Amino acid sequence: MKLTSEEQDMLDGKHGKAAQKSMEILITLGDIFEAEYMVDVYGVQIAGVSYDNLSEAGLEFLSEMAEDGKVRVLTTLNPAGMDRENWQALGIDEKFAKNQNRAIDAFAKMGIITTCSCTPYLIGNTPHFGQHLAWAESSAVCYANSVIGARTNREGGPSALASAITGKTPNYGYHLNENRHGEVLFNVTAPVKGTDEFGVLGKIIGDKLGEFGKKIPYLKGISNATVEELKSFCASVATYGGTALFHMEGITPEYNNYTKPSEIIVEINQDDLNKTRLELIDDDMEIDFVSVGCPHASINEIAKIASLLNGRKVKKEFWITTARPTKRIADEVGYSKIIEDAGAKFAADTCCVVAPIKGRFKGIMVDSAKACYYGRAKNKFKVKIGSVEECVEEAIK
Ligand code: F3S
Repeated sequence: MKLTSEEQDMLDGKHGKAAQKSMEILITLGDIFEAEYMVDVYGVQIAGVSYDNLSEAGLEFLSEMAEDGKVRVLTTLNPAGMDRENWQALGIDEKFAKNQNRAIDAFAKMGIITTCSCTPYLIGNTPHFGQHLAWAESSAVCYANSVIGARTNREGGPSALASAITGKTPNYGYHLNENRHGEVLFNVTAPVKGTDEFGVLGKIIGDKLGEFGKKIPYLKGISNATVEELKSFCASVATYGGTALFHMEGITPEYNNYTKPSEIIVEINQDDLNKTRLELIDDDMEIDFVSVGCPHASINEIAKIASLLNGRKVKKEFWITTARPTKRIADEVGYSKIIEDAGAKFAADTCCVVAPIKGRFKGIMVDSAKACYYGRAKNKFKVKIGSVEECVEEAIK
């Protein structure tokens, strides 16, 4: 790969050990994917932050990098395994909390902003169209590529950190125009509304893409989609289909930039939505846990939950998972008080998937198709998908 003199200096150790190791990681990656050169990145999002995922081996790598490593670009973190201020109320044990904080301290030492959210684009790590990034977290990658029109591959923890320390990423994959065109055409003939329904749609498309062995869907027929609906769709299509980029006619910024796929048309109608919704509802379930905010809730979603809970009391464990800065806004405008007076809990910095709660509940109700997948696969819960309104009613029942 062709290196600039600055990149060569990093590789030669002139910018310290962490920069040298980072450059080695990026060059290896670039060689595997035949990148010709590196590009500058605007920002980085690091995943694999929960101590549950990191373990001691991961922590050792982080501590080594933190010895002399400093990030060169705006870098934020994915959710951790706990609410950093309120972990005891969520039933997290002290040993886990201590280890989680060791990991976050190592990230902070490198100059990373420890906001711990999977929606960095809602809290200031906000790229614009065409900018290169090195983001991990599949839902955020999909959102950045598709909804914003920025450019990032799906990074792993070490490669994202390497990009943060060097400010570079190898130029391959979704950074290149030729890899960004739609491959499978989906015609959505049913109206789609709400975060739950966009999640169901993401599962249909994700499951189907596997059959075609292709990854970039082009959707027509969607007339409207909010930020919250799009983030839910991104999380779902990335989970079920490994999708990092889609185009939505009339909605996403690049839908008209490339030749449209024309040969394969998959039609998605109301029946498909109904059938797939049923796949996200387990039989004979007892719901003892409700969680909204996968991906992390926006202030708009929190406002809605506050208005639905106003003056009422929940009877089940009910988490609203969000970014700390969003929670602070909710505190200031009074939404938090309404929600907490109702007995619901904020789980900022974390979520119902990455928190170490495997087996703690029998059945979870969520508005997110991604949370259904991991609720089953990781935490061994039975699951039910529903709208935000239905989730709130279930918590009150
Ligand atoms: Fe975010 Fe956790 Fe869902 S990381 S996308 S809230 S599984």
